[in-house]
Amino acid sequence: EKAQIGVTGLAVMGRNLARNFARHGHTVAVHNRSYGRTKELVEEFGSEGKFIPAETAEEFVASLERPRRVIIMVKAGGPTDAVIDEFAPLLEEGDMLIDAGNAHYLDTRRREAALKERGLHFVGTGVSGGEEGALHGPSIMPGGSPESYEALGPLLEDISAKVDGEPCCVHVGPDGAGHFVKMVHNGIEYADMQLIAEAYDLLRQVGGHSPAEIADVFRGWNEGRLGSYLIEITAEVLKQVDAETGKPFVDIVVDQAEQKGTGRWTVQAALDLGVPVSGIAESVFARALSGGPDVRAAAKDAALPGPSASSGAHGGDLQADVEQALFASKIVAYAQGFQQIQAASKEYDWAIDPGAMAKIWRDGCIIRAKFLDFIKQAYDKQPELATLLVDSYFLDAVSGAQDAWRRVVATAAQQGIPAPGFASALAYYDGLRAERLPAALIQGQRDFFGAHTYRRVDKDGSFHTLWAAEGRPETEA
Ligand code: 6PG
Repeated sequence: EKAQIGVTGLAVMGRNLARNFARHGHTVAVHNRSYGRTKELVEEFGSEGKFIPAETAEEFVASLERPRRVIIMVKAGGPTDAVIDEFAPLLEEGDMLIDAGNAHYLDTRRREAALKERGLHFVGTGVSGGEEGALHGPSIMPGGSPESYEALGPLLEDISAKVDGEPCCVHVGPDGAGHFVKMVHNGIEYADMQLIAEAYDLLRQVGGHSPAEIADVFRGWNEGRLGSYLIEITAEVLKQVDAETGKPFVDIVVDQAEQKGTGRWTVQAALDLGVPVSGIAESVFARALSGGPDVRAAAKDAALPGPSASSGAHGGDLQADVEQALFASKIVAYAQGFQQIQAASKEYDWAIDPGAMAKIWRDGCIIRAKFLDFIKQAYDKQPELATLLVDSYFLDAVSGAQDAWRRVVATAAQQGIPAPGFASALAYYDGLRAERLPAALIQGQRDFFGAHTYRRVDKDGSFHTLWAAEGRPETEA
């Protein structure tokens, strides 16, 4: 008997994906650079289904039915290229190499183009949900050709998370579309995490609540419109007590957030696309600030002054206000992330359906949330929606939240508590709302020093003013 699917790279993600396929009745070929891991998998979990362990790449390839479906689950970058170089020569026309790691979408585009010339399908696939998701049902975001999806999609849908029986897996679009969308998922994940962290910080510093009390607040919020995996695990983390010291777990952890890079990639890509993903950017920068011990130490030595003691107490129900600020800022972050997906889809001709992305993020992935149902509905109603903020559900939510949101941002500023996520989301919202932006002045400055020209509000064309600055020659565009 041949295997329907193969997995090479059997660290925990690869192993759990392989087990998930086997548990769904598929025969799975398994391979790893060192055979030890392969043996271990079959010894430990062989009873869960049918595995065909392979010692060599050749054996592995020979054990697969055609067209061959080979999932690569190794580190992004060099290791992925090395595995592709190893397997591509062994495969035949129509076979598929599926990269399920967190690859950069530009690498995926390059690899897809190169393998297409050899008659092979390269399917860059986003997989979210961590180890548990990989085993019990992740959210899956495959790119690559539509033909490859025909042969691969049903298997992926089978092992994905389900919402009302519907798989959290859909063909995102060609070449790098899947990895792009997974990247933005991670960027949004960063923003969600930062906003939650700010909410916690304000409840603790302004409200004076203990981590355990704040855990209860989050548990309550999880029952409402903020209901989501990240809110749920936040409550778990906050109620955790360090066994050694008896202190709250959050107080014994070094306050420097690390990152593997997908959030940064999201912002880099957004800069190139010209999409203002300020919520994601602030969260990447907040991690960078936290992780810059030298600068923080210098600031501490210099005792950078905070606000005078007289600056204001919070003028409202702090807990309710923070919930509103969190929800409104979350809406902004998602609106920006979805705008980035739409911009990339246009740029690369991917024809991504944003509603379908919201749909497959409803379960399995890290950002899974009740909220995504409303995003799906918004795009179902209006596929060309310019921004989620103008959809009636989100418009109502933000207008209902905005007074509280402003109070929270004001309190944070007055008390000297950093809340870059809340503040920048509000600034973005006000920027969109503004009837006139000071961008007109920037155009004037550009025209003054560089004759870059400007457009007028009252007639077509581009204009340049002969600025009569002293000692400066007059020019005309
Ligand atoms: C997921 C996660 C996953 C991983 C992140 C962590 O969707 O399952 O996003 O991909 O946990 O890469 O990212 P950082 O290490 O950059 O925080």
